[in-house]
Amino acid sequence: MNKQLRYVSEPEDKEQFTEQYNRFYTSFAKIYDGVVRVLPFWKRWLKATLPHIQGSRVLEVSFGTGYLLMQYASQFDTYGIDYNARFVTMLQDKLAKADLSAKIQQGNVESLPYEDEYFDSIINTMAFTAYPDGEKAMSEMHRVLKPGGKIVMVDVDYPFDHNRIGVLITRAWIAGGDIVRDMEPLFTKFGFEFTNEEIGGFGSVHLYVAKKP
Ligand SMILES: C[S@@+](CC[C@H](N)C(=O)[O-])C[C@H]1O[C@@H](n2cnc3c(N)ncnc32)[C@H](O)[C@@H]1O
Repeated sequence: MNKQLRYVSEPEDKEQFTEQYNRFYTSFAKIYDGVVRVLPFWKRWLKATLPHIQGSRVLEVSFGTGYLLMQYASQFDTYGIDYNARFVTMLQDKLAKADLSAKIQQGNVESLPYEDEYFDSIINTMAFTAYPDGEKAMSEMHRVLKPGGKIVMVDVDYPFDHNRIGVLITRAWIAGGDIVRDMEPLFTKFGFEFTNEEIGGFGSVHLYVAKKP
């Protein structure tokens, strides 16, 4: 990696990092919901996960506004977990209005309240960069995934070709406080077979499909 394309170190005070982010989401939950709804490219990035979801049991970790979960909830036995209590209530309301059912709860990616090897797919979009402890988060997702199951993830990284605009976009995420990581060593460490594909943002938005052997 080019020396100027640096990744972000994890914060020392991980609890404080999560709480600070959480206060931000609580204040801006409604605005965030509106922003996702009107940004066609954001929706396109999230929907890039849809063809890769395998059932029957699907978990979305950090669903945020729930835009993506609402797209597939009718097709699978769907579970969702998010740290932010306001997002949880908002999604429960949306599901009830649409007459859809999914098991939605508040919780932390670092201690998922599910049995080992329970899910066929785990969806995670634009959220891994909000986790202060990447290994703990990955270890929990790995634990609750069945052998043969998939993590389908969308998140920010540098473009493969280091093009200027894509690099600037990635740096803007970092400046905003996101922990942009090289995901590949992390997937490798947990024994996943994975693909890494650029899906937008001048190469700064990546889709990872990681299979647990
Ligand atoms: C940038 S938002 C992404 C939301 C949504 N997936 C999307 O793509 O629009 C990050 C989400 O991660 C959630 N989050 C942050 N830390 C978390 C944690 N430790 N455990 C579970 N969710 C967390 C936040 O509450 C928020 O919903």
